[in-house]
Amino acid sequence: MVGRQTAAGRGRAEGLTLRPAKAKHAACGDRVVDHQQGTGVMDLDQLNGIALRMVAPGKGILAADESTRTIGKRFDGIRLENNEDNRRNWRELLFRTTPAMTDYISGVILFDETLRQTAADGTPLVELIEDAGAVPGIKVDTGAKPLACASGETVTEGLDGLRERLAEYRDLGARFAKWRAVININSEGLPSRYAMNVNVHALARYAMLCQEADIVPIIEPELLMDGDHSIERCYELTEFILKRLYAELFDQGLVLECSVLKPNMVVAGKNCAVQPGREEVAEMTVRCLMNCVPAAVPGIAFLSGGQSDEDATAHLNIMNEHFGLPWPLTFSYGRALQSAPLKAWNGFNVQAGQNAFNHRARMNGLAARGEWRADLEADGG
Ligand code: 13P
Repeated sequence: MVGRQTAAGRGRAEGLTLRPAKAKHAACGDRVVDHQQGTGVMDLDQLNGIALRMVAPGKGILAADESTRTIGKRFDGIRLENNEDNRRNWRELLFRTTPAMTDYISGVILFDETLRQTAADGTPLVELIEDAGAVPGIKVDTGAKPLACASGETVTEGLDGLRERLAEYRDLGARFAKWRAVININSEGLPSRYAMNVNVHALARYAMLCQEADIVPIIEPELLMDGDHSIERCYELTEFILKRLYAELFDQGLVLECSVLKPNMVVAGKNCAVQPGREEVAEMTVRCLMNCVPAAVPGIAFLSGGQSDEDATAHLNIMNEHFGLPWPLTFSYGRALQSAPLKAWNGFNVQAGQNAFNHRARMNGLAARGEWRADLEADGG
């Protein structure tokens, strides 16, 4: 039986559980969805169970799925060579960290190489994640590519051959996947509706293929923080894209109970002269999500998007502490979980790296419960 989790602090109705819409019962748009089609035999209860584990109380997701190029940029910051061993050593350090992994991390998003990699002692990295009680996941998009006839805009690609890749990833242990749409905001009128619509369409096609393959899709439409736009502009665009997204997911037939949303928070551009306070970011983000995201979605896990470590934690905390929400709100952070540990590790100091990861994971775990306080930051290694 499946159940819905309530957000921290909310009362829990006892007795009844809500099951995801079953095969043949999920009418959508103009047809009935056949959830038994395709390669896998889709088990919606099981998928819903995985989605709920990914947003379990006080836990969130570690986004460790940087492409080889992106992890290279992170390693540049500590002047570390970007080779396979160093990439493995870094990820192994994270996945072996306790109590971060056992107490605060519900799932880990991996890059293709890492899903196939073994630790120095030969143990598959996927096994380290599972042994810690977390769910392994995989980034499956192949990146944001220039969009036709739309200067400065991109569409995320990776649909070709995706059905076959998902089947292989599932065999390798992945139980959820991630696809990131990237939307640029600028003062010359970007983004266009064209860019948002094609990205949303691709996200929905990806999500449908995931469910067909018995994999929970993380659906990530990211409006970038780069630029000088106001928080109001971010709100307006986030609202547009989320409304379009859930309309498209309905049209294509996604079972919402078997998905997780990974949105940006509603923030001002990094270069905006007027920066909102933390309460304003939290309030506008919650308002936007309440207007757009169906309550059947098992949970929402934010990206950090270039916010400072402490802002990413504080914003999440305020949302969970002060608002009654229909879904658990948690983190699916890359930089906001890894920047401090990477610096502390510096290519060799495993203990310092693990201490820093334990600290950030705990801070964000507390924020997912609405129990973080700024003075706790001082205690951390
Ligand atoms: P950041 O938290 O660094 O934005 O990364 C999250 C992520 O997975 C982006 O796709």
